[in-house]
Amino acid sequence: MKQELPEPAATGAFAERLSAVLPADTAGWTLLLEGELGAGKSTFARALIRSYGHEGAVPSPTYTLVEPYDLSGRIIYHVDLYRVAEEEELRYLGWTDLEDGLRLVEWPDRAPGLAANADLRLSLDYAGNGRIASLEGLSTRGRALVEELADTQSKD
Ligand SMILES: Nc1ncnc2c1ncn2[C@@H]1O[C@H](COP(=O)(O)OP(=O)(O)O)[C@@H](O)[C@H]1O
Ligand SMILES: [Mg+2]
Repeated sequence: MKQELPEPAATGAFAERLSAVLPADTAGWTLLLEGELGAGKSTFARALIRSYGHEGAVPSPTYTLVEPYDLSGRIIYHVDLYRVAEEEELRYLGWTDLEDGLRLVEWPDRAPGLAANADLRLSLDYAGNGRIASLEGLSTRGRALVEELADTQSKD
């Protein structure tokens, strides 16, 4: 599905709509966040994390690689692979230790193997002064969720 995002607030609103259709238990889910520098990947991740009740800062994981959140039992891992040069580095990062959470991954192209086990891919593209989002389901449950979200959109 596609969604026009004319200004930053629309990116946040779209993240909130996604959070409303994600299941109560998102352990093991992976959302890939694609797009050029400044496309709004972090803006989207920040809004999603806040929509689950986080009130503090949402620091960039560019240097730490992973920023964890525990929001009333919902674990979220905000991951940024910008500085990862080789897929193998994911092992040092402890990717398999992140199974208990929802993984939001910026720059997933650094580890092409991730897509095989991911659920959703959000691609953000520049469109004039705004952005356009394309959300694609990569797994069975991911595709079902995108359909559900598209349904809520058409009822607006
Ligand atoms: N839908 C939008 N339209 C216009 N500007 C946006 C939109 N969404 C986010 N932005 C702005 O673009 C920039 C995106 O930065 P950021 O989220 O850090 O991008 P990324 O993580 O993809 O590099 C921010 O300045 C933000 O305010
Ligand atoms: Mg970013």
